[in-house]
Amino acid sequence: MTRQKLKLGIVSALAEEQHGVIDVMLNKTQIIRGKRTYTSGSLWGIDVVCVLSRIGKVAAAASTVTLIEHFGVTHLLFTGVAGGAAESLAIGDIVVAEELVQHDMDSSPLFPKFEIPMTGLSHFKTDRHLTTILQQAVDVFFKEDFLNVIQLKHRRDFALTLPNQHHGLIASGDEFITSAKRMNQIKEGLPATLAVEMEGAAVAQVCVEFGLPFAVMRTISDSANESTPVDFAKFIDTVASHYAFHIVRRTCLALN
Ligand code: ADE
Repeated sequence: MTRQKLKLGIVSALAEEQHGVIDVMLNKTQIIRGKRTYTSGSLWGIDVVCVLSRIGKVAAAASTVTLIEHFGVTHLLFTGVAGGAAESLAIGDIVVAEELVQHDMDSSPLFPKFEIPMTGLSHFKTDRHLTTILQQAVDVFFKEDFLNVIQLKHRRDFALTLPNQHHGLIASGDEFITSAKRMNQIKEGLPATLAVEMEGAAVAQVCVEFGLPFAVMRTISDSANESTPVDFAKFIDTVASHYAFHIVRRTCLALN
C-alpha cells in the first residue's frame, strides 16, 4: 500500500506572518480562489500550500475548506498571534494548542453553551503527532534561533527576555479582546483558557469534520486587557513574523 504524500496547509491571519516563507518557497504557483491567494510549492522539502485567511472564524473556515477540498492538503498548521489569558503568559511567549473552543458559541437552551450544534463537541483536540512536532520546533526555536533572529533592540522594545512555551486551551471568537472584564467573562465559562484569538477553533472544527490532522501555534502579542497596548503592527513585523518563519522552518525540517 502506498502512503499518501504529506501536503501541509499553512494558514495565517496576517500577511507579515507568511511573507518570509512565501519568499523562500520553491516551485511556487499562485491561484486565487474565493478572493484569497493560495501559494503552492515546496518548503524545506515539504509540499505546502500557504494562505492568508484574513481575520475571523468565517474567513478561517472558508480558507481551510478550500485548502482541503481544492488543494488536497493532508495536514494543517495555523500560525498567528493571540492575547494572553493567564497571568503566567508574557508577551513573546508561545501557546501551542492542545484543544480549541469557540468562546462566542452559545445556542443554549437548544444545546449546551460552547457546544457546536449537532456535533456534540465544544472542544476540538489538535493532532497529537503534529502538535508534538510543533512543540519541539518551538523548543528548538527558543533555544537556538530566538537570540539570533530577534534583534536586541526589538527584544528591548517588547521586554522579551527568555520567552516560554505553554500548552493547553485556546479560545476563539469574532471579537478582539481589550478589557479585563470581557476576558474574565470568557474565563468564567472556560477557566482553562490560555490565549484568545479569532480563527483557531474554526480551523479546528473544519479539520475535525474532515478528519484532517492539525496543529495551532500562537505568539502572545498582548494581554487581552486595558494594559498599555503594544505597537501591534511593529510587534508583528519585528517579532511575530520571525517566530512564524523559523517555527515553520523547524516544523518542515522535522516532518521530512
Ligand atoms: N489576537 C491577538 N490579540 C488578540 C486579542 N486580544 N483578542 C483576540 N484576538 C487577538
